[in-house]
Amino acid sequence: MLNIALFGPPGAGKGTQSEFIIKEYNLCYISTGDLLRKEIAEGTRLGQEAESIIAAGQLVSDEIIVQLIEKTIVTNPYSHGFLFDGFPRTYMQAYILEGLMIQHNSSLNCLINLDVDQDLTVRRLLERGKSSGRSDDNETVIKKRLQEYNEKTHPVLEFYREKGILRNVDGNKSIDDVTGQIKDILKEEMKHSLYNVVLF
Ligand code: AP5
Repeated sequence: MLNIALFGPPGAGKGTQSEFIIKEYNLCYISTGDLLRKEIAEGTRLGQEAESIIAAGQLVSDEIIVQLIEKTIVTNPYSHGFLFDGFPRTYMQAYILEGLMIQHNSSLNCLINLDVDQDLTVRRLLERGKSSGRSDDNETVIKKRLQEYNEKTHPVLEFYREKGILRNVDGNKSIDDVTGQIKDILKEEMKHSLYNVVLF
């Protein structure tokens, strides 16, 4: 199994890069942002709870995220592995992910951090906002999303650095260049996991 998490500030390119990874490695894609927007569109209780929080650019509670993730993992017992986009975003979520991986007799291979200058991510999101229809792609909310990222999410990198599975990518480059950097990382990961299989 190959389990990967894509990490980075709003507009870093997590969704963009996820597209090629899931195609190439046939992974089960779990984007907590997409899952939340689906709950909102369907008008579920969970969606109603999350809607105003997302519109304000804040992180929704860890409890809501756990419910979403568990529901998705249970309905997608996927043998090739998982690609997490935008999860984990807090220390609590990092611990929850560890527990879930253990339940699946597995572990996270690597957390890929898309390192991007924040003035560039603001420009990308304002541009995307013209056509995305996302209520959180406007200047005021983008500022709040970045503040949440800097205060609550960015510190989680330390957890993965200590575990030795943090991989940094220069996300300021073109989409193709970033894809190339991620491909190199995943090639290495695949080599390691094959090696582990042989050892077993
Ligand atoms: P979520 O949907 O996860 O949004 P986000 O993290 O703010 O990330 P984005 O989707 O905005 O950006 P991205 O990194 O995917 O960039 P993209 O590829 O689209 O979360 C939304 C909200 O849900 C959160 O604010 C929070 O409230 C809640 N939430 C979600 N998960 C949560 C969790 N785990 N815990 C608590 N709350 C949670 O690219 C952006 C644009 O840039 C695109 O137009 C793209 O074409 C362009 N682009 C991408 N890469 C490049 C490049 N290299 N060069 C030029 N342009 C590029």
